[in-house]
Amino acid sequence: MPRYGNGRRVAIVAGVRTPFVKSGSALKSMNAIEMGKLIVAELIQRAELDGKEVQGIVFGTVVPSVVAPNIAREVSLIPALPKGVQAFTVSRACASANQAITDAADQIALGHMDVAIAGGAESLSNIPILHSKGMSDILVAASKAKTMAGRLRILARIRPKDLVPITPAIAEPSTGETMGESAEKMAKINGITREEQDQFALRSHRLAAAGMADGRLTAEIAPVYVAPKYETVIATDNGVRHDTSYDQLAALRPVFDRKYGSVTAGNSSPLTDGAGAILLMSEEKARSLGYEPLGFLRSYAYAALDPGEQLLQAPVLAAPVALSRAGLSLKDIDLLEMHEAFAAQVLSNLKGFESKEWAARAGFSHPVGEVDRSRLNVMGGSVSIGHPFGATGARITTTLLNELRRRGGQFGLMTVCAAGGLGFAMVVERA
Ligand SMILES: CC(C)(COP(=O)(O)OP(=O)(O)OC[C@H]1O[C@@H](n2cnc3c(N)ncnc32)[C@H](O)[C@@H]1OP(=O)(O)O)[C@@H](O)C(=O)NCCC(=O)NCCS
Repeated sequence: MPRYGNGRRVAIVAGVRTPFVKSGSALKSMNAIEMGKLIVAELIQRAELDGKEVQGIVFGTVVPSVVAPNIAREVSLIPALPKGVQAFTVSRACASANQAITDAADQIALGHMDVAIAGGAESLSNIPILHSKGMSDILVAASKAKTMAGRLRILARIRPKDLVPITPAIAEPSTGETMGESAEKMAKINGITREEQDQFALRSHRLAAAGMADGRLTAEIAPVYVAPKYETVIATDNGVRHDTSYDQLAALRPVFDRKYGSVTAGNSSPLTDGAGAILLMSEEKARSLGYEPLGFLRSYAYAALDPGEQLLQAPVLAAPVALSRAGLSLKDIDLLEMHEAFAAQVLSNLKGFESKEWAARAGFSHPVGEVDRSRLNVMGGSVSIGHPFGATGARITTTLLNELRRRGGQFGLMTVCAAGGLGFAMVVERA
């Protein structure tokens, strides 16, 4: 049977995350670095790990701080870790934490590391706001002026239009299309109705609410004492609606195509703040330190398609490759975690899994197959829980392995769609 890692098995030992909260709400006073530090410290403490064992930190973030772009290094400088820990930051849009996890796993599989922490953080409450090109040209010129009078002369050139700030958009740089517009396009191409999307969103909220109520989801969340005052503590996600109904969802107006659209605030993932981290080790190291791993990485694959086509459909190309690398097929998979950027995207991906055309595009003669919905996102997903871009991959890895263990399952598959037409899939196994 094919095994990732040429014999060196990579164990996933533990995972934890902050609450995921809507941006501009409970965690808006904390930036991504602060959340990342907090969650890595929590992971080390929960795992009762001596920080001296950690050899690497790999972290993902999508909208980095301009003044501290290597978030991984900042995160690694916590008191619990020695200063000699390697740390690097990765970006693969919404699959950034997955990229961090597979990069850390590769280091372990290669024998370069035995213990690594991977994850990601995102604060969409704290995105950098940039000056316009005109304004920055003037500021640079003013900073080089030799006299105060010269500086003032240059600054006098500032016009009102120069003061208009530039904020990062959730749009494709290559096409200008926003994610929401892409989801609309995919709904139309794949014949996904508004009703199907709202039913899927309702399911996401109901399952997440059940996971909160019985403690399965809350067990994965580290309560956060909110800096800088530490007067409030946040212990749960604030996007999960225990009380939403199909009628409420159906009443919402489309956001991205107001006239003919079907994608609403209710069936999209919300803009979210949060962080998550995973502890990875070589199997031998995990055993020698006395850990019972949550599971093992069996295979993974990345894929890409033209961003101007169906932006969020590349999981359909990645999943069959990951399954084939694992020597498995969909019927072997006990549980699936698919990142829910939009209900329309998940439902389009599921249709793609059943399509011969998409299978052929991925290089296979048979489609992945029809996903048994009772095995899919059994504790909800990003539509209800939220989606801090750089952190979601850590959340779904933890949830998939915890739930696989609870159910006594053997194999789990996760998929993540990402900006740029990128897609990710990973197969994990227990024992
Ligand atoms: C869709 C989006 C624009 C909505 O933003 P928003 O308008 O700030 O969203 P809100 O949370 O304020 O919701 C809008 C309304 O819908 C209602 N609503 C949202 N979800 C609901 C639900 N599940 N049930 C009932 N009502 C709901 C809200 O209560 C609010 O109502 P109000 O206007 O009466 O207060 C934003 O979440 C977004 O851009 N999401 C996509 C993010 C993205 O592109 N991610 C990339 C994925 S890879």
